[in-house]
Amino acid sequence: MIDTRLLPATPEGVAEAARILAGGGLVALPTETVYGLAGDARNDRAVARIFEAKGRPQFNPLIVHVPDLEAACRYARFDAEALRLAETFWPGPLTLVLPLEGEPVSPLVSAGLPTVAIRVPAHPLAQRLMRAFGGPLAAPSANPSGRVSPTRPEHVLEGLAGRIEAVLDGGACEVGVESTIVAPGDPPLLLRPGGLPVEALEDCIGQPLITGGSSERPSAPGQLSSHYAPDAPVRLGATEAAPDETWIGFGRTGGPLNLSPGGDLVEAAANLFHLLRQADRLGRPIAVAPVPERGLGRAINDRLRRAASPRP
Ligand code: TXA
Ligand code: MG
Repeated sequence: MIDTRLLPATPEGVAEAARILAGGGLVALPTETVYGLAGDARNDRAVARIFEAKGRPQFNPLIVHVPDLEAACRYARFDAEALRLAETFWPGPLTLVLPLEGEPVSPLVSAGLPTVAIRVPAHPLAQRLMRAFGGPLAAPSANPSGRVSPTRPEHVLEGLAGRIEAVLDGGACEVGVESTIVAPGDPPLLLRPGGLPVEALEDCIGQPLITGGSSERPSAPGQLSSHYAPDAPVRLGATEAAPDETWIGFGRTGGPLNLSPGGDLVEAAANLFHLLRQADRLGRPIAVAPVPERGLGRAINDRLRRAASPRP
């Protein structure tokens, strides 16, 4: 067991986190989407420890986090479309899957694929840590495999205390669902809906995104159908709760647990994983009100379907 430290959002806290990373250690860092479990993406041992700490069943490829587009260009090939997406939406909740090119990262990061998933997070503390560390950070969400993603430092500690060196305390994450993953190309593929609405991406690209992978194009391995799972069974699209159920509402549905009483999808995304955890602690089956399938509602419904699907 490691003594997991909670590091403050101070220059000293950031410097200590960078020192741990440079020594091959693991630090959970806040991003605008969810907390990531970061290790040096060039260090095989650090990356392997990420899989071990999460208890991941397979070596799914991980997202590489860098502070800006210039740093991203050291590891991946950007064509004109990828450049336009990066210039429009970075820093922010968009991950691009691009051909690996340039300086090496650990092959464990890309799980042997010829591509790499790369993103520039907007969170100021993530930015400060990446600049202090000065290298690429591999960072999946900082939760044990198959569990709900963490959006607060206490969530990280609940799942990973004793298995990682530190958590950098950035408070609650603003977006609350993971980044949207896109593989630019013809056609551009949506590999995971997420914190950047698909509509904004389609406006930028000028053509519709195709959902999922194909035989010649990458899919997002690790998109297991049961994922983000609370312990309790989850029922979706519920118009009311049965007497033994805990109800998570959306909009004017009443009840103490509500994704967004005002029906705001941005607020609902930010609350999603926190409310699933709160409901799960009550130990009863969970019923969730319908959430509209537009904007961030697509990412919210994707995570909810995974939370509700049969467990492996
Ligand atoms: O918001 C986020 O993206 C968070 C924060 C911490 O940045 N990170 C995150 O990472 O969600 P993770 O490891 O939980 O999800 C990574 C996803 C997986 O579904 C994986 O299959 C996909 O990215 N992925 C990674 N590399 C890929 C590649 N080369 N080709 C296709 N999919 C890839
Ligand atoms: Mg995850």
